[in-house]
Amino acid sequence: MENKVSVLMERYELGRLLGQGTFAKVFYARSISTGQSVAIKMIDKEKILRVGLIDQIKREISVMRLVKHPHIVRLYEVMATKTKIYFVMEYAKGGELFYKVAKGKLKEDVARRYFQQLINAVDFCHSRGVYHRDLKPENLLLDENENLKISDFGLSALAESKHQDGLLHTTCGTPAYVAPEVINRKGYDGAKADIWSCGVVLFVLLAGYLPFHDSNLMEMYRKIGKAEFRCPNSFPPEVRRLLFRILDPNPNTRISIAKIKDHPWFKRGLNARSIKPELENNDVASSSTNAGTSSFESTSTATGDTQDLVALSNLNAFDIISFSAGFDLSRLFEETSRKKEARFTSWQPAAVIISKLEEVAKRLKLKTTKRDRGLYKFEGTREGRKGILSIDAEIFEVTPEFHLVEMKKSSGDTLEYQKVLDEGLRPGLQDIVWVWQGEREPLESEEQEQENQHQQLENQVSEDQQQLMQPLTLQDKLA
Ligand code: ADE
Repeated sequence: MENKVSVLMERYELGRLLGQGTFAKVFYARSISTGQSVAIKMIDKEKILRVGLIDQIKREISVMRLVKHPHIVRLYEVMATKTKIYFVMEYAKGGELFYKVAKGKLKEDVARRYFQQLINAVDFCHSRGVYHRDLKPENLLLDENENLKISDFGLSALAESKHQDGLLHTTCGTPAYVAPEVINRKGYDGAKADIWSCGVVLFVLLAGYLPFHDSNLMEMYRKIGKAEFRCPNSFPPEVRRLLFRILDPNPNTRISIAKIKDHPWFKRGLNARSIKPELENNDVASSSTNAGTSSFESTSTATGDTQDLVALSNLNAFDIISFSAGFDLSRLFEETSRKKEARFTSWQPAAVIISKLEEVAKRLKLKTTKRDRGLYKFEGTREGRKGILSIDAEIFEVTPEFHLVEMKKSSGDTLEYQKVLDEGLRPGLQDIVWVWQGEREPLESEEQEQENQHQQLENQVSEDQQQLMQPLTLQDKLA
């Protein structure tokens, strides 16, 4: 029988499928020139463009290229064709750590070693401003020496659940590993959220099952929100104490990574040889690359007129997906408060959004008060059935070009609020809204926007291809 080998970009021989998600498939592959094993993630460009993720992904890729640590799957290079984006990554031969745990809980020393490696890798990324925010079983792989490797650090929007067994692997969209503040979507500290997920991982390694689990999703949210979990009797007191400090529902009082590293349980058995992250760029392919990412800019920070806003510049692609139409997870997360809230995304600068909000409020005879950090209050002038109507509007900077605006009633009558929202605010803000959350827009303007983004990406890819003829400079690396 003919054995046809698939070759990618004349450089990689493609092998078996390692994993699959909505946006991407991961294949085993081998470099034709060096014979090196790699994992190649193939991402459907069309789907990514459709949810408006492309800039964020470019930014994250550039960050990922700087994150080199023995316990993080290396991103060697990025290639693109008209329809696909390819991430060429380090291949972790041992597969997912959780296949191991699925066979039964681990011995304390073994669990500690994986946890130490996990915490060291997470700490390293945080020190570089990279947050995972979606640490979960399918992102924890093992190499041939039983060393843990976190995959997709900073690319969590592209990591999807592929197992549906509901035990150790989360079914798609369930929050088993997600911190309460992430579920509540009130804005969160990426570092604290990652620490929580590491705590869930530690529990699972030692117990062989999840700390928060319920067949009823809402019940599961409730348990997570209250950090309602019980340690099995087999857990030594020291590890219980550590877990209670990590799985603290209040991110402000939750233990820091520095303190975890200083905890007696964590420190035990650490060998003197410290793990030294690589800081040099020694990609397998970066000096000879084809279509890579050298020209992609780094994570953005607030600029000029937006410095007043809550800068969500450390939002990752996962956040944007979940805020985007068609990927609206808020229905899962906030069953009751959802009715009160309205969110939209906008490609307008903050100043334009603010003046539009003020203009519409004035037209609706609402008094505007500016609070700090992008928070605005709109108040009615007349008493309603339940007092004066008051609406809070908060503007979040996702990137300097892309904002999320959340409006919710803080007091007054809900019916009156709905009327103001539906008949006043929504139509009044139409010019600046890209997508209202929870709606699937058949807008021509949106389609046009996508067309523009397609074009931009095509241009970007050809620019990248030209740039990649040259090796990366130090400036590229630091950009
Ligand atoms: N599955 C997903 N990513 C992988 C990788 N880098 N190595 C092995 N298996 C994987």
